[in-house]
Amino acid sequence: MKNVILKTQTAESIIHCGADTFRSYAPELKNRQLFIVTDRNVFSFYRELIWSTFGGSVPVVILPAGETAKTQRYLFEIISKMADAGMTRKCTVVAFGGGVVGDIAGLAACLYMRGVELVQIPTTLLSQVDSSVGGKTAIDFKKIKNLIGAFYQPKEVICDPVFLKTLPSREMRCGLGEIIKYGALDAAIFKKLLENKNNLYDGKFLDEITYDCINHKAQAVTMDERDLNGVRKTLNLGHTTGHAFELNYGRKSHGEFVLIGMYYEMFIAEKLGIGGGAYYENLRTLITSVIKKVPSYDGVREAAYSAKLDKKNESSSKISLIVPKIEGKSAEITLTVESYANYLQECCASLKDKNESN
Ligand code: GLY
Repeated sequence: MKNVILKTQTAESIIHCGADTFRSYAPELKNRQLFIVTDRNVFSFYRELIWSTFGGSVPVVILPAGETAKTQRYLFEIISKMADAGMTRKCTVVAFGGGVVGDIAGLAACLYMRGVELVQIPTTLLSQVDSSVGGKTAIDFKKIKNLIGAFYQPKEVICDPVFLKTLPSREMRCGLGEIIKYGALDAAIFKKLLENKNNLYDGKFLDEITYDCINHKAQAVTMDERDLNGVRKTLNLGHTTGHAFELNYGRKSHGEFVLIGMYYEMFIAEKLGIGGGAYYENLRTLITSVIKKVPSYDGVREAAYSAKLDKKNESSSKISLIVPKIEGKSAEITLTVESYANYLQECCASLKDKNESN
């Protein structure tokens, strides 16, 4: 078990990482006035654990599983049930689930009586390595992801690998997508990933690398909590193209799209002379150890145009990408939408040739 402390100008979070952290720290929460937010999938696996840890009468809101729950309807349902349950300003909202639960429960905690204590208990690899840390909370609105939200740091995060045991392999690949992204931002993480490239799903390895990613993120958030000076923006490596593909082609998990996005963006960065060589080959090996075959897409120009909505863009006609440069360093590139679309099309053509010849 290891702890990471994340300090910002206004808050301090303690992140407990590793085996047995749930058993060690969750029972302490029982002394507080708790309100649990979870989803149907998680509740079906952990109903007994929730009751035996927090007591059978703890109020629980059970959301539908998946992104469709991240709406105003469920946000207000949580807040309304908190009021019905008599929650006071001293209560603690516990987000027990993956990224969606963390985002919406975090926003509810931020809004209820102008802010009550929040504890994140992330149960997916993705939420453990990334979304439960750093205080981003949001719901989707008008079909735009995370349009309504706030920065609101949890008091505690309990990241216990015990919850990964019930995860389907798609969810593990999803988390590995974000982990490999951290590898492109942090030379020490990259080295460990390469050394373990045939072992990425191993429990002990995942424990260690999860801690490293959380540490990296905590440092970035400490330097740039509100995403204002460019440090936190680097955490979006692979995400511009990944989000555009996710929106247009669906089906794979978010983390897999991050890896696919990274692959396409590295193609562009290489064309522009920003990165390449053995470093890029090694990154591609890591990507293809999770995504066996990087897809070539039809209609990729349309997907390129949908990247215009990405929040990193400072102008509506330009696309901003965070790309790997050298080990431990990324670079930001800005392209016109037309030139971005051309590069994506070129990458698709090269993938088509490659995939057909294999
Ligand atoms: N997932 C990126 C961030 O928290 O800033």
